[in-house]
Amino acid sequence: MSSLLKTISVAKLGKTVFANDDSLSILHDISFDIESGESVAIIGASGSGKSTLLSLLAGLDTPTEGEVCLMGQSLNILDEDGRAKLRSLHTGFVFQSFQLLPHLNALENVMLPAEILGLDLASTRIQAQYWLDKVGLSHRLQHFPKTLSGGEQQRVALARAFISKPAILFADEPTGSLDEASGSRVIELLFELNRECNSTLVLVTHDPALAAQCSRQFQLQAGRLV
Ligand SMILES: Nc1ncnc2c1ncn2[C@@H]1O[C@H](COP(=O)(O)OP(=O)(O)O)[C@@H](O)[C@H]1O
Ligand SMILES: [Mg+2]
Repeated sequence: MSSLLKTISVAKLGKTVFANDDSLSILHDISFDIESGESVAIIGASGSGKSTLLSLLAGLDTPTEGEVCLMGQSLNILDEDGRAKLRSLHTGFVFQSFQLLPHLNALENVMLPAEILGLDLASTRIQAQYWLDKVGLSHRLQHFPKTLSGGEQQRVALARAFISKPAILFADEPTGSLDEASGSRVIELLFELNRECNSTLVLVTHDPALAAQCSRQFQLQAGRLV
């Protein structure tokens, strides 16, 4: 039954922002469906609207036209708390800038999403150790982000994104701040963890080689799908 549901469904999505008495149209008339288990790359020049689209898909931002449905649920009829709840139940997010909390160590950063969901602390700790081991950081559990390399920080962010076994994993230029070797390792892990969790992957990237690893590519040009 759930296989009939589109994991992500986007209809006539648009985003216009208003600044200094002026309006700027960032996205226009975007429609597509993504099915469970697909991997999709969103590509396009800098400024073409990729990050804005990803934020709308994840319910981190709200559209000015159209609608996004996640797991059959329209985001338009949810308030901010409702969207946050849907996000924490079904999605993980990996950012270019890692977005780890500086005052929490690696283990605590990874535990945080499960703690927010109110899951049992002891089993959350075991799960966090499991995912940090998966990304090759079992020897860095007590390290704070500033004492980790960029590649290591992004691997902590991957463990944090996957601890809740998300139905959908969003990643915005996950290798954009990394050197080539750490970037390749992060991508390898991203696809590996994605397979293990059977997650649907939606990835923003500049990297043609990375985009080619996805089952579909959406190209944005000046806010439109081409
Ligand atoms: N809140 C905002 N206010 C004004 N302009 C914005 C805002 N968010 C994005 N933009 C503009 O919209 C365009 C698309 O941005 P973005 O989605 O970040 O592009 P990309 O991720 O493809 O580089 C850019 O020109 C950016 O400057
Ligand atoms: Mg961007």
